[in-house]
Amino acid sequence: MRLAVLRESDPKERRVALAPAHVAPLADAGWKVSVEEGAGLRAGWDDGAYREAGAGVAADRSALLRDADCVIKVRPPVSGGEGDEVGQLPEGCVLVSFLSPGTPASLLDELAGRGVSAMALERIPRTTRAQRMDALSSQATAAGYRAVLVAAARLPRFFPMLTTAAGTMRPAKVTVLGAGVAGLQAIATARRLGAVVQGYDIRAAAAEQVRSLGATFLEDDGSAGDAEGEGGYARALGASERDRQLAFLGRHLPAADVVVTTAQIPGKPAPLLVTRETVERMRPGSVVVDLAGETGGNCELSVAGEEVRHHGVTILAPVDLPSGVAQHSSQMLGTNVSALLALLVGEGSLRIDLEDDIVDGVLVTHAGTVRIAEAEGG
Ligand code: NAI
Repeated sequence: MRLAVLRESDPKERRVALAPAHVAPLADAGWKVSVEEGAGLRAGWDDGAYREAGAGVAADRSALLRDADCVIKVRPPVSGGEGDEVGQLPEGCVLVSFLSPGTPASLLDELAGRGVSAMALERIPRTTRAQRMDALSSQATAAGYRAVLVAAARLPRFFPMLTTAAGTMRPAKVTVLGAGVAGLQAIATARRLGAVVQGYDIRAAAAEQVRSLGATFLEDDGSAGDAEGEGGYARALGASERDRQLAFLGRHLPAADVVVTTAQIPGKPAPLLVTRETVERMRPGSVVVDLAGETGGNCELSVAGEEVRHHGVTILAPVDLPSGVAQHSSQMLGTNVSALLALLVGEGSLRIDLEDDIVDGVLVTHAGTVRIAEAEGG
């Protein structure tokens, strides 16, 4: 079974889908791993590191792909134009990458047309059996960590309290909205940097997790109550709950120097938590880092991928936070991908077992058809 690792073509993307450390275990499982020249360089691994680990390194992409059974990459393959990747995929191969949201239907049609079995990493369920494959969680962990470093670099103050001959500096106050995977890592990171940290969520169960990290839980005065819905996720709030929540946050957030927002409800636009009025009540120099820029933003003023200044407040909505810590993000992603690949091997050969609920769930195109309609639009 031949596995090809593509170099990412998006100039903002520094990650690679596989680390050198994954090559030997994959070889033991029967894979012959080849990596496109320079694929790992921006994550801190040169071609020699992959060679030493036992992988082949190919300078020529068409040679790399020619007889690949499985192709892995981080971002969806590019379709059309000079950098066309879809047209280079071997007919009938398996593709593993992030594929939604925002993947146009035409891309899925094209993949299906080439007989590609495309597996979308976003669709790995957050279940115990799939934990090792959970790429969204591994990358959200990196994003939560990185978001706090980005905020610390922008804030015109220290994070920790410093007692110096030149005076005592108060610690920064950081509020993290949404205490899921990214939020908890943001809380932990801000704590490690010495800030005074508050966490907030509409699931009552999150309070304990926030407190276990040494942060305080911002108690909602009944505006939303416990809004835990199906599968442990939050449910979308009704209009009056939303209004009460915005009023509550509007009263509390201006006390923070840094607000990191990570609230999401899977499959829905990001809930609005920080309004323009709230930003206008924050102190000049304060920083908002909005992780949900790509799904509409938790802050009314966020522009995905841009930096906005409003009333002296900096609002950042970076969309490539895991890339900012590319080596560890890639290492975790490679572990997720390797665990998924293990489901595709049966008696030394590649097979797609549609009876396996994880395989069935992630497969967005297979046997010439687009299987999962909601992966199309985003
Ligand atoms: P998660 O589902 O683990 O956590 C989201 C949290 O938001 C949950 O605890 C949920 O209860 C909470 N929540 C939902 N509605 C809320 C509301 N109205 N008020 C307060 N809390 C609310 O999600 P995860 O994996 O932590 O991802 C968080 C966000 O980070 C997502 O939007 C994801 O797309 C984004 N992300 C951004 C990256 C970037 O580079 N910008 C990279 C990776 C993830």
